[in-house]
Parts: sequence; structure tokens; C-alpha cells
Amino acid sequence: MGYIFGVKGLDEALVDSIRDGALVIITGHPGSGKTILASTVCYTNSLRGKRCLYISFQEYRERLFRMLSRLGIHLEHAEDEGFLEYVRLPVLVKSSQLVDEIIKLVSKSDPDIIVVDSITPLMAAMRKRVSARSYLQDFFHTLASKFGKLVVLVDELMPGDAKKSTTGIEFVADVIIVLRHRVVRNILIRELEIMKARGSSLSVAKAPFTISEGHGLQVWMPVVLEEIPARGEEVISPPCKPFNDVIGPLRRGDVVVVSHPPDASPSFVYEGPLGLITARGLRGYVLSFMRPAKEILDILSELWGVDKGVLEAKLGDRLVIDSMNPTATETAQVVAYTVESIRAIKPDVVVVDGPDLVYELADRKEYISALYNLIKWYKKMNILSMRIVAETSPEVYNVYARLADVVIRFQKVEGGEKTGWRVYMWRVGREPAIVSHEHVAECQKMIRQEVLRVLRD
Ligand SMILES: Nc1ncnc2c1ncn2[C@@H]1O[C@H](COP(=O)(O)OP(=O)(O)OP(=O)(O)O)[C@@H](O)[C@H]1O
Ligand SMILES: [Mg+2]
Repeated sequence: MGYIFGVKGLDEALVDSIRDGALVIITGHPGSGKTILASTVCYTNSLRGKRCLYISFQEYRERLFRMLSRLGIHLEHAEDEGFLEYVRLPVLVKSSQLVDEIIKLVSKSDPDIIVVDSITPLMAAMRKRVSARSYLQDFFHTLASKFGKLVVLVDELMPGDAKKSTTGIEFVADVIIVLRHRVVRNILIRELEIMKARGSSLSVAKAPFTISEGHGLQVWMPVVLEEIPARGEEVISPPCKPFNDVIGPLRRGDVVVVSHPPDASPSFVYEGPLGLITARGLRGYVLSFMRPAKEILDILSELWGVDKGVLEAKLGDRLVIDSMNPTATETAQVVAYTVESIRAIKPDVVVVDGPDLVYELADRKEYISALYNLIKWYKKMNILSMRIVAETSPEVYNVYARLADVVIRFQKVEGGEKTGWRVYMWRVGREPAIVSHEHVAECQKMIRQEVLRVLRD
């Protein structure tokens, strides 16, 4: 019979790997979330009618239950319903005594799941007695395999100890999950690793996770390359001739890069993507790393000469504008957040404003691999994605242009009395072309007219 972890990303990654007779080890640094994960397993399965025995050598019931209930894990409720027994035991030095105690508890309540949190002090107490340790390991293994229980053991890793556990029980385990945390730019980043998963074909083994009020533990599995539809349907037909000639219609799954000099006025870069989403009645999600959502609305309101309140009301929830401070986060978290937002909003078009800021703050390899995966995911999800990138260096431009299907690159032309623009446009499989500013301005005017028509209705 199958169990669940009760953690979305983890259950997707580890389909059917925890069942009767499985031995699961949750190991990790102090404060990394081991108790929360073990309790989540207990609680979510109790909601499915499984009985859980939670043996703790560490936590006082009241304090633990209070901490967990803020995370949405209501052990008290499970206890009241008769699906949970929480027992706090002192560390018994004699392994036989401990085994007797556990056997007594197991035979009394006949649970489906047994959690021991944690085995580290027990094993440490038997450090010098190899036979006692193997006796205990054998006992847990037997409890799982012979008696058909799901056994979840929590094990502790010392900080700095990358992988080694102190107990050596890993060898008989079916599933090993390692929880770690580190501090990046003053932010606590949590990471989960699936080190072992018997009987499960894993494609992803490491992922960031978060612990938050009301949501508990959430794992943010990276996107894996899967089947990608060849070419999506048309979402945006070109508003004007140069677009049509050089780029043609924008389709679902297309990856568009709109690049501009870092000192260029933002209004014209927003007008194309956001104007087209608005004019064509599409559902759009804008994630800006550059400026707060309110400021983007101000820009649009000024650009279109429409009162901000009216604009907000007209856009409704069709155009969701969101922002994130790139210095307060990390690549993996950005990806996790983006994917989660998109799953909730289900947009036709996603516009990312200023991803270059994230790139410049991130580890290069990590960022490019995340970007690559994210782009494949957009294609798989049939979403047209656009990135508005400030071309702070040729390198930054190249990172995005290389992965794009369509490039729209604004370039300043200086000469004579005034500065003008020209636009380099390209679509994969076609010849690139340079379009003059007049033509682009013409396009923008057409988009604006369309937008105003829609906003006036
Ligand atoms: N309400 C909450 N919101 C956000 N984070 C929380 C909340 N409650 C607890 N945490 C986080 O959960 C972590 C503790 O989780 P847990 O007790 O499961 O860790 P652990 O690995 O079992 O620790 P230990 O090694 O001390 O037993 C802490 O880092 C704490 O910051
Ligand atoms: Mg703990």
C-alpha cells in the first residue's frame, strides 16, 4: 500500500517509493527541517486513514505541536482522531531496553507508520559497541521489511559534514533524503537532496525548499526536459509591416528577447509587450526585477494617457504585474517562485523584466542552466515568454539572445543633432533585418491605438 510524503514536489519525484515495508531516512543539519518533514509524513498519511507512532527523543509535545500547527500540520487533530500517538522517550543507553520499549509501543497501537526522531543520540550512545549498533539497525530494518511498516528515521548531520552520517544505517535504507541549508547574501537557502530512492526512476535529485507559515515544507523541483511541442499556435499576429516581414506571428512557446540600452527610457520597452497583451485580450504575467508593479502601472498610465485607477480596473486580473527584489533572492528561488506563480495564474504570455539583474548577481553556470530549463518549461507549457533585457554588456545580451527564437534589439544611433533608434530584428530560421526607428514608431503607434480602443470599450 502506498504512502505519500505530503510534499508536492517530493511526491512527484518519488512516485510509489514509500510503501509498506520501506525504510526512509531523513537526515540533515540542525534546524534544517527534519522534524517538520517527518511530521508532515505522519500527518498527511493520518488524513488518509493511516496510523502513525511518533517516537521522539528530543521535542516536547506542546512546543512541537504548536510550532507545527503554524505550518498547517495539526498533529493534535490527528491524535484526537486516533491516528497519531506521540511518545517522548528518554535516551536509553541499552539498545535492548530501547527495542523492548519500541516493541511494546508498536504492539500496543499497531501503527502503519513509525517515526523515530532522532536515532543519532541512540547510535552515539552505542558508539563503542558495534554489535549493539548493528542490532538496532537490524531491528529497524526488520520492523519495516518483516512487519510491513513504513519506518521513518531521522538522522543528524553535523554542519560541515557534507554527506557522512554518523550511523551507517544508509545502506539498508530504501529512501534517503538529505536536508541542508546555507546563507546566501544574508538569506537562508534550504536545499533537499534525494540521495537514494530504490525502485524510483529519478530525473531530479536536488531541489530548493521552503518552510513557511500555513504552507509547511514545500519543495521546488527544477523543470526537467520533457517532450516539447514542435510549434505552438499563434498568439500574437504582427501589428505592422516590419514585424510581419521580419518576425511573423508570435507563437505559443516562442522565446522573445527585447533588449535595450541600459539608459533607455523604459516606456517604449514596455509598450510593445504589455500593449500587445492588453490590446489582444491575452492573459499576461509580468515579473519585474527592475521596478515595483505600481511604477510599471504609472508608466503605462502616463504612456496611454489613462487614469491609473481606470487602467487597473480595465486590466483586471488579466494582466498580473508582480515584482521581486533580485538582491534578496537566489536563482533557484527565483525559478521556484516564477513557476509557482505561473501555475497559479496560467498566463498566455509571460514578460520578465530585468532578468539580467538576476544573472549578474548569480553564479553564471547555475543561472544559465536554470534559464535553459525554464525556457524549455515555457515551451512545454505552451507559454509565449518575453524577456526585457538591459544590454549592460555584450555578454549579457548573448546569454539571452542565444536561447531566443525572436530578438528585438533596440540600439541607439548617435549622429547629427539628435539621438535616434534602430532596431535589429531576427527570428530563428530567417534572415535578420534592421528596422528604422520610424517604422518601429509606426508599430508602436498602431499598438497604442489598439490599446486605447480596448481600454475605451
Ligand atoms: N512558522 C515558521 N515559518 C517559517 N519557518 C519556520 C517556522 N517554524 C519553523 N520554521 C523553521 O523550521 C526549522 C526547524 O525545523 P525542524 O525542527 O524540522 O528542524 P530539524 O532539522 O528537526 O532541527 P533539529 O536538528 O534541531 O531537530 C527552523 O529553521 C525554523 O526556522
Ligand atoms: Mg528535529
